[in-house]
Amino acid sequence: MAVVGRQRSVHYQRVDVVDTLQALEAWRSKVTGTLGFVPTMGALHEGHLSLVRRAGAECDQVAVSIFINPTQFGPAEDLDRYPRNVSADLALLHREGTALVFTPTAALVYPPGFSTWVSVEGLTERWEGASRPGHFRGVATVVLKLLDLVRPQRAYFGEKDYQQFRVVERMVRDLNVPTTIVSCPTVREPDGLAMSSRNVNLAPDDRRAATVLSRALRVAQAECATGERDAKALRLLVEKTIAGEPLARLDYVAVADPLTLEPLTVIDDRGAVCCVAAWVGGVRLIDNLLLTAPTDARPRS
Ligand code: PAJ
Repeated sequence: MAVVGRQRSVHYQRVDVVDTLQALEAWRSKVTGTLGFVPTMGALHEGHLSLVRRAGAECDQVAVSIFINPTQFGPAEDLDRYPRNVSADLALLHREGTALVFTPTAALVYPPGFSTWVSVEGLTERWEGASRPGHFRGVATVVLKLLDLVRPQRAYFGEKDYQQFRVVERMVRDLNVPTTIVSCPTVREPDGLAMSSRNVNLAPDDRRAATVLSRALRVAQAECATGERDAKALRLLVEKTIAGEPLARLDYVAVADPLTLEPLTVIDDRGAVCCVAAWVGGVRLIDNLLLTAPTDARPRS
């Protein structure tokens, strides 16, 4: 690694790593063509890398941010335990041909006196928003700041965090941010567990038990695909499957409108998103799948 001039800009092999606004702006002002952006909290895995690759396929250059955003964690949450491994992250991003990695400090993002927040109403009130008060305010605020600084034409978000993707999409539309929000499918381990930075905090028994989330979602998806349109019946099916795993404790199951995240009673031809959150050991996991019923199916009850 070589420090370049007096700018806080470091070349990690070929990736430019910057941690000041001046260095970021100096880099940004030289970009020609389309810039794709992938905001992350680091501890990168194949899920993150799928976003980076999609951005690489669709844009001339790709920028990634690594910032564990403290304001999206509640006081009793796992900010201190959140995995960190920036040098491994940079090596992975180098392999993917990422042009720039922005690694700001919390003091840079939230300088003394910081007091402006982005609050997306409606969409954030249920599910993750209800279980994690203040979470989406922290997410929306940091994402808006990052989009404003990086000024990408396109920004990439995972469907793994389905509600987050919808919240960011809403915010960008409401505030006329000139960035297209692109969603990417959830990347899973071979046994179905959705990849997550937090998975490394699962003890071996808990890691095995954690597959219950995706299993439960697949049961609901299969039932809906064979004609079950009653949301409560599908919710109960997920609850029952998760109750069958003694190491898991359910937080919520949602069968909701895929655009508004409002709970559904009947699944119509627009389909539904089924979102689940559960504790396994000391780790809180989330997952979701889209449900679609065959067009000729009627509610069974
Ligand atoms: P983080 O959890 O690091 O995730 C960064 C991006 O990777 C998010 O868009 C997330 O949905 C996506 N992602 C995570 N796991 C995935 C998987 N298994 N398959 C596909 N995509 C996956 O989400 C955040 O960080 C933060 O809230 C952030 C948006 C960076 C704001 O702080």
